Amino acid sequence: MRKSTDPRRGSGRHSLATIRAILAQILALATVMVAGHHGLFAAWPLWRIAGVEGALALILAIWMHLPRWWWPLELLFVPAVVMASTLELSPWWYAAALALLLAIYGAVFRTGVPLYLSNAVTADTLLQWWGERRKSRVLDIGSGTGTLVRHLACARPHWEVDGIEIAWLPWLVSRWRCRRLRHAYLKRGNFWQQSLTDYDLVYAFLSPVPMAELWQRARAQMREGSWLVSNSFIVPDRAPDQMLVVGDHRDTRLYCYRIGPR
Ligand SMILES: C[S@@+](CC[C@H](N)C(=O)[O-])C[C@H]1O[C@@H](n2cnc3c(N)ncnc32)[C@H](O)[C@@H]1O
Repeated sequence: MRKSTDPRRGSGRHSLATIRAILAQILALATVMVAGHHGLFAAWPLWRIAGVEGALALILAIWMHLPRWWWPLELLFVPAVVMASTLELSPWWYAAALALLLAIYGAVFRTGVPLYLSNAVTADTLLQWWGERRKSRVLDIGSGTGTLVRHLACARPHWEVDGIEIAWLPWLVSRWRCRRLRHAYLKRGNFWQQSLTDYDLVYAFLSPVPMAELWQRARAQMREGSWLVSNSFIVPDRAPDQMLVVGDHRDTRLYCYRIGPR
């Protein structure tokens, strides 16, 4: 773990990658369609044309410096759509898949925050930075499937680790994963209705959207000397008091804001 106060990377990293990923797919599709229009793929089977599109999208993804985990998605997206269309599955399968996706990601339309999870290296970095304090109350706002809460609660049995999550399915999964941890409490609800007053450390892995408002709330409600830690997304117009460089494959930064006097 390296510490710094210089927020080298801003909050737009994730959303920019998504835009580039969509752009790579659109460019690859457009190229294949133009080439097809000029007769380049005459008499080719559809799956082979889809393969060319995927390969092009992959090359573009690499050229655009997209993170590696996008690469297989770029390569396989159109081939998977083509393959699914040949399977002649009942429409109910697609409806079930859509329902499942809505249960996991549906809240994003309200919150502007998708589900992606903190990894173990990030949780360990946080633990190392926060140290072996005898007692701490920690809250993960938007706790997803409980990955971070579980990790912290297992490592520090003497802490109280809470999470609050708005989406039903991730919350149910988090409850199940932490069912044996008596000092981990997972609540379903909206963190904007949750008081931050009693917490020593509030952890957020959200998006650029709520950060300014979140900081206002944290300053209004949290005690002097407590901390707001944001994974990846900075508070606009406020330099973090510390920045932790996690050193994982995502190049994660934790931006740490100390609550000062009111
Ligand atoms: C990027 S995920 C982070 C999950 C978890 N904190 C972790 O680090 O593994 C953000 C989560 O916040 C949840 N969320 C977004 N807005 C919320 C809100 N207003 N109240 C509660 N949860 C919210 C989303 O549903 C999503 O599961």
